[in-house]
Amino acid sequence: MPRTLITSAIPYINGIKHLGNLVGSQLPADLYARYLRLRGHEVMFICATDEHGTPAELAAAKAGKPVAEYCAEMWQVQKDLADGFRLSFDHFGRSSSPQNHRLTQHFAGRLAEAGLIEERSEKQVYSKADGRFLPDRYIEGTCPNCGYERARGDQCENCTKQLDPTDLIDPRSAISGSTDLEVRETKHLYLRQSLLRDRLDQWIDGQEGWPILTTSIAKKWLHDGDGLQDRGITRDLDWGIPVRKGAEPWPGMEGKVFYVWFDAPIEYIAATNEWADATDGDWERWWRTDKGAEDVRYVQFMGKDNVPFHTLSFPATLLGSGEPWKTVDYLKSFNYLNYDGGQFSTSQGRGVFMDQALEVLPADYWRWWLLSHVPENQDTEFTWEIFQANVNKDLADVLGNFVSRVTKFCRSKFGEVVPDGGAWGETEAALIARLAKGLEAYQGHMDAIEIRKAAAELRGLWVAGNEYLQEAAPWSVFKEDPDKAAAQIRLALNLIPFYATLSAPFIPDAAETMHGAMGTEPAWPEDVEATLATLAPGHAFTVPDVLFAKISDDDRAAWAERFAGTRD
Ligand code: 2FM
Ligand code: ZN
Repeated sequence: MPRTLITSAIPYINGIKHLGNLVGSQLPADLYARYLRLRGHEVMFICATDEHGTPAELAAAKAGKPVAEYCAEMWQVQKDLADGFRLSFDHFGRSSSPQNHRLTQHFAGRLAEAGLIEERSEKQVYSKADGRFLPDRYIEGTCPNCGYERARGDQCENCTKQLDPTDLIDPRSAISGSTDLEVRETKHLYLRQSLLRDRLDQWIDGQEGWPILTTSIAKKWLHDGDGLQDRGITRDLDWGIPVRKGAEPWPGMEGKVFYVWFDAPIEYIAATNEWADATDGDWERWWRTDKGAEDVRYVQFMGKDNVPFHTLSFPATLLGSGEPWKTVDYLKSFNYLNYDGGQFSTSQGRGVFMDQALEVLPADYWRWWLLSHVPENQDTEFTWEIFQANVNKDLADVLGNFVSRVTKFCRSKFGEVVPDGGAWGETEAALIARLAKGLEAYQGHMDAIEIRKAAAELRGLWVAGNEYLQEAAPWSVFKEDPDKAAAQIRLALNLIPFYATLSAPFIPDAAETMHGAMGTEPAWPEDVEATLATLAPGHAFTVPDVLFAKISDDDRAAWAERFAGTRD
């Protein structure tokens, strides 16, 4: 049985994610995981929350909660929303887990032994009132260049000049406003990625058939960006994974934690370890090539902004450890989804967020639209008009209508059992040939994770069924030749479980309803003709409830208005 490890970029803990985040990693990863399971793969599908770093601390402070408590609560919120969208993770972990503490400290220790970690002294601004060092972005003051009074320690927003915190006139803490700041000397650990440049270059060159978006970003940072400069991997924060060398203390690093981007990808491994601890499973057979992972194919999903960390920093950690860790085999990355003429924005609360989306419509509507418009080759735009038009057409008029027409017609003429009617003719043979060709194309696109093409092919298969029905017109044929109509309806009824199985990765709830109504179980159609003979004459079914209601103009207008502003 082929084995596939799938990871989705892990969402930050601070706040509910918007649909742009969802479509950029978790949702396409889920599509692929569901597809491969149907094709008989053993799949390990991993995601988690990314819980460390200043944004988590600040969000907790804003919510008036201790950060550990805030993260535990937000993990549950994100987990419930993931369930609501039917994201079929084998495990949804937490980067703050003990397993991630152990593994992150382990990797740091190995990298240090390999000579890939260096201690450097640097000067950093300390706020006595806040009792902490301040990252550059959390220091504000007057820009020495243009006089703008709210310039940040890294850059002046007004004149765009890059700054050092020490350049600012009248600097103050962005957290408390305190001006009681001083520059202190502090030591940090740096990952010497630059020493691994050639190895990473070769490793990337050795990857076959990666999307251009992925390799072009990796190569850019490798050769002309600053991506392969050595990176600071520690921070002066309270919340995070304490800096240790494996199980040993790290002299001089007391009170410091690892940088969030160092521990976040390690959580992919740690989350599998969490899964194993919870289920008595074996996580190493997914991750250690000396312990069974040599035949695993590892596929990652993420937005384009995450690519440098996954093509350079995380592989540097894995390869640099000198241990036989599994590295990614295929990295699928995405452009951005925009919202109604602008960007989705978490900080500004702009767009539709996962909780709001599910208040308005069931998951399948969103899954279908988002996946069939996934920003694969360029940034894509969500508008309520396009959403309404696509969903009404594809889901209600084409698929939903087919299922409803066929089952209702059969009930009224032959009862709720599959009729017989004898052999099929040429029209049926042509349909079967069309479906076999479409199925092959669909599989090819799904195997290649070409999601838009796969969605278009699936839609084409639904349309083919509708066209057949239109052409065969059993409602007319019935009057002259009830047997022929029965044979036509037998074929059309058999198409329902066929569609349900193929569509399940996109619209799992509707697929389940369709299988439920037909009394069938998902089974991948290896042979279309045989599959369309599965439901034998006499097999009982029920007429399902309406699969997809149409979105009315009134609803569309109301939602467009509701989501026009920003959420509080
Ligand atoms: O961009 C983000 O949402 C990050 N939280 C992704 C981290 S992915 C990985 F490194 F774990
Ligand atoms: Zn300025």
